[in-house]
Amino acid sequence: MERVFSGIQPTGALHIGNWLGALRNWIALSERHECVYSIVDLHALTPSPPPSAEEMRRRVREVAVTLLACGLDTSRCTLFVQSEVPEHAELAWVLGCQAAMGDLQRMTQFKEKSEQAREIVGLGIFAYPVLQAADILLYKATRVPVGEDQVQHLELAREIARRFNRIYGATFPEPEPILSPTPRVFGLDGVRKMSKSLGNEIGLLEPAESVKARLAGAMTDPARKRRTDPGDPAKCNVFTWHGYFTPAAEREECAKGCRTAAIGCLDCKEVLRTHLEKVLAPMRERAAALLAEPAAVERALRAGAEKARAIARATMEEVRHRIGVR
Ligand code: TRP
Repeated sequence: MERVFSGIQPTGALHIGNWLGALRNWIALSERHECVYSIVDLHALTPSPPPSAEEMRRRVREVAVTLLACGLDTSRCTLFVQSEVPEHAELAWVLGCQAAMGDLQRMTQFKEKSEQAREIVGLGIFAYPVLQAADILLYKATRVPVGEDQVQHLELAREIARRFNRIYGATFPEPEPILSPTPRVFGLDGVRKMSKSLGNEIGLLEPAESVKARLAGAMTDPARKRRTDPGDPAKCNVFTWHGYFTPAAEREECAKGCRTAAIGCLDCKEVLRTHLEKVLAPMRERAAALLAEPAAVERALRAGAEKARAIARATMEEVRHRIGVR
């Protein structure tokens, strides 16, 4: 069976963009493959300045609860926090010795993130893709579900694996991306990718009233200025969201109502909200139950780390032998 690996940064509250683009795919894959999923807190140390220790702990707990609330079943996959498996950092050093500076410098994400750095451009943000390669290769994963923006990092992981194999003998398979089936989800502003840092997101665990209020303010067809103007669903981001959540027949009705101005944007948003709630309400409920039982979440993460460590330890033993260190 193929092994799948993917990681998610603990950036805080996850949103419907994360769910559509990654999480629901993680869940689907865990039904068919051996999946290893990690909350990559070591990657989250790379911004300058980094989050405080308290903030880091809070985010990791929040992401863990959200993943479980979404329906990720830890009896069918391995879910763990990266820093609980020290081999990630260890392998990152070894692989870093086979990563070309020139390749790292070409990474789009490095260029973007180093511009956002407020204090220093640290070695960590430069070496970020090396740690990512270590995450994947430590488990000898062959398939990696990611978004379009991570394909370049994956290509680098393949390059590092090839170089290592050439020098030290066949050790790592070359991991292939599994591209997210949902290309890219735009935010409430209708123009930029949904992201918590832009504040244009609908959070997975947001209270229902807050979802309603934020949806009411969401950008629709910019040309539809008055309730009596006909609109164009093809130019409306909310209509794109209907595509993710609303059954086709009802969606078509909304489209027709929009084109003929029979319904207003708020009516259309209310239909969307009904269907969105069918996804979000159960998540909120499960999250509330998990938050009431933090020890159970801790136990699940500990058990995940235990399973991950067993694989990681075996790979590192092989790597140490191949490179000649003790
Ligand atoms: N860089 C990825 C992101 O920002 C997160 C990540 C870290 C990852 N390690 C990984 C993804 C390994 C896939 C495989 O989305």
